[in-house]
Amino acid sequence: MKILVVGSGGREHALCWAIAASPLCDELQCAPGNGGIASVATCIDIAADDIDALVAHCQSQAVDFVVIGPEQPLVMGLADRLDDAGIGVFGPSAAAAQLEGSKGFTKDLCQKYGIPAADYGRFDNAADAKAYVLEQGTPIVVKADGLAAGKGVIMAETDDEAMVAIDEIFGGLFGQAGTEVVIEEWMQGEEISFFALCDGENTLALASAQDHKRVGDGDTGPNTGGMGSYSPAPIMTDELADTVMNDIILPTVAAMKTEGTPYKGVLYAGLMITDTGPRLFEYNARFGDPECQVLMMRLKSDILPALIACNEGGLDHFDLRWHDTAAMTVVMATEGYPGSYEKGSVISNLEGASADENVEIFHAGTSVEGDTIIATGGRVLNVTGTGANVAEARANAYRAVEAVDWPQGFYRSDIGWRALKN
Ligand code: AMP
Ligand code: GLY
Repeated sequence: MKILVVGSGGREHALCWAIAASPLCDELQCAPGNGGIASVATCIDIAADDIDALVAHCQSQAVDFVVIGPEQPLVMGLADRLDDAGIGVFGPSAAAAQLEGSKGFTKDLCQKYGIPAADYGRFDNAADAKAYVLEQGTPIVVKADGLAAGKGVIMAETDDEAMVAIDEIFGGLFGQAGTEVVIEEWMQGEEISFFALCDGENTLALASAQDHKRVGDGDTGPNTGGMGSYSPAPIMTDELADTVMNDIILPTVAAMKTEGTPYKGVLYAGLMITDTGPRLFEYNARFGDPECQVLMMRLKSDILPALIACNEGGLDHFDLRWHDTAAMTVVMATEGYPGSYEKGSVISNLEGASADENVEIFHAGTSVEGDTIIATGGRVLNVTGTGANVAEARANAYRAVEAVDWPQGFYRSDIGWRALKN
């Protein structure tokens, strides 16, 4: 088969790495890809959100199957367009991707179908939103309804912070994403990511993984796309995973089918493990980045037939097998991220750093110039180690991080602290 992966992050590098190993894959392309993806796939110079050009490329090149990595093309309807063109696709329709594309949509769905989530209000004007905050009291969470590149959530500790956030969102801080505001109860507990493949009807839970969203050690500083991840996450016991499936994932997939917008692809639930059990704070319509990297490292089975089954059905006959080992990804980012940063610094000794068989380095914001790898983004490398347990995976990952020669890069030194504390 001829496969095209859409995207350019560490998640897409990990997907390409796993798909390239499939006996079903004869040719692998990635649009637009990055400096590391270029070593396993042919990079195609089309942006991930250029829907017309992607569809035209797949038609002219007779691509058999497309794996969509990021949310933007999903919400823009790339899966629908490919489906209409008779091309196989992994990823939900635009209507189903609203689970990520509109926080209000997801809140309403959860309320209608009794899926445990934070209490909330939806508002299209600042006055009503502010009145709701005063009525509920702070702390409270203020969210732009639409896609805001992970920045549209403000955790407001005081009334003043909530009022400023409401004014900023309606004032256009997040553009179109902020024409509506969702205000939510601030839930307390430990956060966990849960992933399940879905074919519109059946679901298959994946291994557990946990992310570190804050930029600094000790979970301090601003939120990022994710600074590191590990799998398995000890907090996700088999019993808790059953509860999440029965109370949250299965009712959501059934609800989406009932609503006439069946969900196909990977459903990524952001959960808070509260005193009253797991509750949802968000859905994403794609794999997490960097959670995907550790999942792909631990996956023993061929990923490609499972991705195809999400599109064609029959996931109920699937059983993915996982390595018993643990995996950890440490993200190396350019100094300044998630604020402004400089592009163009040179990264050396990646081969030396990844020579160990327990280490794989997935690229995010890199490009190749001749023989040189250049940093071109905020999150740049995903240095991934495996080991018998999280502690060993961590030792292998950090040994490799220290071997990477990149003075302009930084990383968190405490990825996995919760797992090791447990
Ligand atoms: P999101 O952009 O939706 O991933 O949210 C960013 C982060 O905000 C999440 O990872 C959570 O840590 C936090 N968050 C979002 N909603 C809530 C909530 N209702 N209660 C507590 N924390 C939340
Ligand atoms: N790791 C968080 C995300 O992919 O949204």
